[in-house]
Amino acid sequence: MTDEPVPLRIRPVDQGKEWSEETLERARAIIARYPQKKSAVMPLLFLAMAEDGRLTSTGMRQVADLVGITPAQVLSVASFYTMYKRDRTGKYLISACTSISCMLADGDEVFEAIETEAGVPHGETDEEGLISVEHVECIGACGGATAVQVNYELIEGVTPEKARELVRWLQQERPQTVNTDQMQEMFGGRRSFDWAIAEEDSAVGPFPAFPSLGTVGRNGERSQ
Ligand code: FES
Repeated sequence: MTDEPVPLRIRPVDQGKEWSEETLERARAIIARYPQKKSAVMPLLFLAMAEDGRLTSTGMRQVADLVGITPAQVLSVASFYTMYKRDRTGKYLISACTSISCMLADGDEVFEAIETEAGVPHGETDEEGLISVEHVECIGACGGATAVQVNYELIEGVTPEKARELVRWLQQERPQTVNTDQMQEMFGGRRSFDWAIAEEDSAVGPFPAFPSLGTVGRNGERSQ
């Protein structure tokens, strides 16, 4: 036993860039949807991620300034949720659910198929920066297990074979945009809700949709 103090490990946060007027305009439009500015913190963090490719200290400071809270408060939100990335991910982030409902529907095998086909283990990105892979906790689509997301766009009823096809499709086709409807058609199976309402940016409710992250832009481009 030693009396030596244990050094504190503080994770460095990358600097980002100041937001353009266009991004500020998008931020103001997001804030206007909420009765209180600070309620917009979470979508604004996705906007900050889209701006710099990951969450940066500059991005979080701008969110804080816009909604009138401290950067430390913004960081406390950002560091709680795993979907906010402080490291750059690949062009395609594949998230496979391995929580209980998906696990009972071959979720571990689906995840293993993705890791093997991509040649990328959990939490890593391939050398080219094309594909990142992660296993995640329940993403709210248990009725459509096994659930997989690409850039947070959902695919339900994925089998190991379809998961391998999905990875090969991303590697070979390198689509400019990814969206739920197309990927569900190509690689999905049984869905939670067939009554989902199509959104104009192609993501469907009631699943999480991230227009502020810009996985699918109004003009069909992806924003990062
Ligand atoms: S357990 Fe996989 S989506 Fe809920």
